[in-house]
Amino acid sequence: MKLLVTGGCGFIGSDFIRWILDARPDLQVTNLDSLTYAGNLENLAECEANPRYRFVRGSVADADAVDAAVREAEGIVHFAAESHVDRSLYGPVDFARTNVEGTVVLLEAARRHRLRRFVLVSTDEVYGSLAEEGTFTESSPLAPSSAYSATKAAGDLMALAYRRTFGLDVVITRGSNTYGPHQYPEKFIPLFITNALEDRPCPLYGDGRNVRDWLYVRDHTRGIWAAFEGGRSGEVYNLGGGNERRNVDVARAVLRAVGRPESLIQHVADRPGHDRRYALDTRKARAELGWAPDIPFERGLSDTVAWYRDHAEWVRRVKSGDYRTYYERHYGIGNRLEPGARSLEPEIQDEKPTSST
Ligand code: TYD
Repeated sequence: MKLLVTGGCGFIGSDFIRWILDARPDLQVTNLDSLTYAGNLENLAECEANPRYRFVRGSVADADAVDAAVREAEGIVHFAAESHVDRSLYGPVDFARTNVEGTVVLLEAARRHRLRRFVLVSTDEVYGSLAEEGTFTESSPLAPSSAYSATKAAGDLMALAYRRTFGLDVVITRGSNTYGPHQYPEKFIPLFITNALEDRPCPLYGDGRNVRDWLYVRDHTRGIWAAFEGGRSGEVYNLGGGNERRNVDVARAVLRAVGRPESLIQHVADRPGHDRRYALDTRKARAELGWAPDIPFERGLSDTVAWYRDHAEWVRRVKSGDYRTYYERHYGIGNRLEPGARSLEPEIQDEKPTSST
């Protein structure tokens, strides 16, 4: 089968390609990626010589590039997205272009060329924020908070509209916060690991008690493929790690794993519209796809720390250029990490960590 993967040079997409080329020798993979700041050809260096792998540079919002790539494919796994909530504060239009328009351009090409299946990789953030109790099921209402999650929700709805209106075979996965090797260090876990390795402060937003459900990248990859192979058309599948943790507890675990003091944690102003808690009910994916996450959080985290420690050159290259500009803007002068910047609720009480399942 000929599979088109979009956004394959990013974090989850590149894990997916590395895994699937190995796991499925019958597959040919074309990777359509525009190489934005978060896309990195180094992530797929080991695949370059594989005759079953092909890289095409292009944007999902470019109808001609998409048509040429989709025309030759039988199925699509669509990862390409602007994915960082904090960046969506500064450039919401880029998010709409890639996550909404790009998804529609791709859906349209898939319809025209009658593709067998279209898997859209989405996020638990489309459901909005939870209080202390409860979990989101696939039928929870969509109530996104940020320009990131709102544009992902719009993409989901367009995909479902293509299924209902045009009969396109669409499956959506909604993954929880994903972590692991190769993640761009603007996200919480790789930011804290790489800052700690350099003895730099680790900026914890607000009271640090926001809760995320952490999923190891390889578990996420396997879930996406399980949805491609076994998901029912028009259905949504939640892929959650079952590892709910408060940010402050993750921060402490990272510093322990890196071997640095907790005093590197610096409490900084909160993210506007910061969702309090995400947690997913994953019974549907378990029952229908036979999928379950496998990697315990502590093991995933120590493997991830080891990877960043062993890939100092990767980190150095990624943390130059665009990264520095963004970091300064978001955390630097006049902002969160400026000496004397206002901190919120610096006192974090020790509580029992939120339960994990
Ligand atoms: P992030 O990795 O950006 O993922 P998401 O916003 O999609 O959940 O953030 C995870 C959590 O970590 C979130 O509650 C925000 C928090 N966070 C910080 O406290 N400091 C930071 O510098 C970043 C990037 C995130």
